[in-house]
Amino acid sequence: MQTEYIYIIMKIIAINGSPRKEGNSARLLQKWVDGFIYLHPETEVEWVNLYSLKYTGCRSRFACKRKEGKFYGQCPIKDDIHDLIEKVYDADAVAVAAPIYFGDLGAYTKAFLERALFSRTSYRLHHDSLAKKPVPVTMIYSMNCPREMAEEHHYPMVWEGEEWYIANAFRYPVKRVVAYNTYQFNNYDDYEMEMFKEEDKRRYRDEHFAADQEAAYYAGIDTAEHSEVNKM
Ligand SMILES: Cc1cc2nc3c(=O)[nH]c(=O)nc-3n(C[C@H](O)[C@H](O)[C@H](O)COP(=O)(O)O)c2cc1C
Repeated sequence: MQTEYIYIIMKIIAINGSPRKEGNSARLLQKWVDGFIYLHPETEVEWVNLYSLKYTGCRSRFACKRKEGKFYGQCPIKDDIHDLIEKVYDADAVAVAAPIYFGDLGAYTKAFLERALFSRTSYRLHHDSLAKKPVPVTMIYSMNCPREMAEEHHYPMVWEGEEWYIANAFRYPVKRVVAYNTYQFNNYDDYEMEMFKEEDKRRYRDEHFAADQEAAYYAGIDTAEHSEVNKM
């Protein structure tokens, strides 16, 4: 008797919310992809650099909420993220890497999420999602400040708030990966940076960034396991 193997082809989307294509966000995001692929080598990966796209935040026209409207539950704006918004709800997993700017997610990430989330968030009594299936989302944050400063400035509260809406729209608990105290340049001496010492930054990076990347990698593996269960 012949044994039949069923291969599950996964589709994942990795979204880089940093203007830097090889910065901290991109490197952490790549590890998440690597972790996912470790479990599912046949995975189709779509990598998106948000800063290569032209789009706006929500225009508040409520077409996605209009009863029996043509765009009910969808974003009608036809710009560079129109198709991406549809694809993320169809994917087996999504990761979004957001650099932290002024204590919040960077503007490109924020505008993308605004559009993606509002189209699927209903104003029905229980605020439930219009997404057709659950999609696991991993949020990856990286920032210049150390953990204590981030906590003092309530960054985790910002992430919790954002993740509540993401989990609600995507119908799945959000996974979080965080990298603090990131190394920003190769040449600190060329910039006005009295607040930071290059050697301290470098030492912290050398001692911690590998662990942050590992956390992203394991989040990828863990997501792959969950996506597999979702697909069965
Ligand atoms: C406009 C701007 C604002 C920033 N604001 C903050 C901030 O409020 N807190 C912080 O910890 N880091 C802040 N940073 C630093 C970045 O979050 C940090 O360098 C991050 O790791 C960059 O990710 P990337 O390497 O993927 O671009 C800011 C950077 C920029 C360019």
